[in-house]
Amino acid sequence: MQFEEAVRKRRMVRNFTDESVSDQDLKKILELALHAPSAGFSQGWAYVVVRDENQRKQVGKVQGETEGYVQSGFGNFISKAPVDIIACTSEQVYHRRYQEKDKIKEDGTEIDWPTPYWFFDIGAASMIMLLAAVDLGYSAVFTGVFDPQGMRKLLSIPEEYHPVGVISIGRRAKDKKSPSLKRGRQPLEHVVHYESW
Ligand SMILES: Cc1cc2nc3c(=O)[nH]c(=O)nc-3n(C[C@H](O)[C@H](O)[C@H](O)COP(=O)(O)O)c2cc1C
Repeated sequence: MQFEEAVRKRRMVRNFTDESVSDQDLKKILELALHAPSAGFSQGWAYVVVRDENQRKQVGKVQGETEGYVQSGFGNFISKAPVDIIACTSEQVYHRRYQEKDKIKEDGTEIDWPTPYWFFDIGAASMIMLLAAVDLGYSAVFTGVFDPQGMRKLLSIPEEYHPVGVISIGRRAKDKKSPSLKRGRQPLEHVVHYESW
């Protein structure tokens, strides 16, 4: 598949068949995520891959699947997907990296973080996984983790790591579209400013 086709085809799919994701494809998706850019090459990301059916149900529970997505007609797509990848990031990894010799300021302090790069980087890596899934013929959806402590507890994620979202991957089944899509995609001229704003 060409890059443009994968980008245009990708959308958050919220229903999956029972078909599994092969070990080889899953490994490829995860390996490609390692190619995401990261500030100072900090690579403060970590992933928990959940394939076990019971454990997926628990992940769905932490994500509030029943009272949230099932209630609003989307179904139990997080626990139904054959693979859930919990994408985590560690702010501490970035602080440690930016205290290294080539990054620390002359006065011995860390940079004044203009943006929390640890969130930027896990976003970039997540995007690669979403696109890689499409490229391999699967579909995927990213759901935000609203109970990070609950997710940490369920999956024994160290306190230092923040579970940002769950990337659920599988073969697409007929799904309900998000009402958010009614907003429509912004036209180029609304978001792009040439030479100055
Ligand atoms: C940071 C982020 C958080 C999101 N959180 C959720 C979520 O918790 N639940 C959900 O169903 N979709 C979630 N989405 C999906 C968006 O609703 C979706 O990307 C948007 O409506 C555009 O649709 P599309 O990705 O299918 O083009 C999230 C997307 C992003 C980038």
